[in-house]
Amino acid sequence: MAINEDTPSGGNTPNGGKTPSGQTIQPMTASDIDAILEIEQKSFPKPWTRGMFESELRNHVSSAYTIKTSGGGKERIVAYIVYWMAHGEAHILNIAVDPAHRRQGLARTLLEVSLERMRVHLIYEVFLEVRVSNAAARGLYNAFGFKESYERKGYYGDEDAIVMRLEM
Ligand SMILES: CC(C)(COP(=O)(O)OP(=O)(O)OC[C@H]1O[C@@H](n2cnc3c(N)ncnc32)[C@H](O)[C@@H]1OP(=O)(O)O)[C@@H](O)C(=O)NCCC(=O)NCCS
Repeated sequence: MAINEDTPSGGNTPNGGKTPSGQTIQPMTASDIDAILEIEQKSFPKPWTRGMFESELRNHVSSAYTIKTSGGGKERIVAYIVYWMAHGEAHILNIAVDPAHRRQGLARTLLEVSLERMRVHLIYEVFLEVRVSNAAARGLYNAFGFKESYERKGYYGDEDAIVMRLEM
């Protein structure tokens, strides 16, 4: 079951839900999880489990979207994002891009579309945690104007987190 039946494309991506390079942004569904777990394992020291994604798909405050490419007549997931929206606040829980497709603007596209959707839902602040050592993600969030608020010691067990906040 998709978390949200509305696609983020409406009004957000002028090309009918397609990114500038032709990928499509779609709500995440249970049938996407196998492909997502492969990217997850290549992306994080402590990857999410299948159960964690399934739980987000059931959670009514959760939104989850994928970017898919089509090559050779087959669609393939290359990026995804998961976030919560509640009481005017949003929390980005997960964002990852297949290593073979990084530095092509996919995370930027996912964030742009997600922040636009959050604005439509009258979200006024967005939070996330990031590993202190994660220069790529910190660079991405800084580029969107997220500010580093404070550190959560031992948040990841093996590393501290920086809590970042964006005022909308
Ligand atoms: C972080 C991540 C999602 C970025 O995805 P991406 O699609 O490669 O990022 P984009 O191409 O959209 O980059 C957008 C901007 O982010 C910043 N950025 C992205 N990768 C970066 C890197 N390796 N180093 C420094 N800045 C980087 C840059 O400002 C970049 O803009 P530019 O290319 O014009 O310089 C990707 O590296 C990833 O999946 N990492 C593993 C999972 C992860 O750490 N997720 C975040 C958890 S908090």
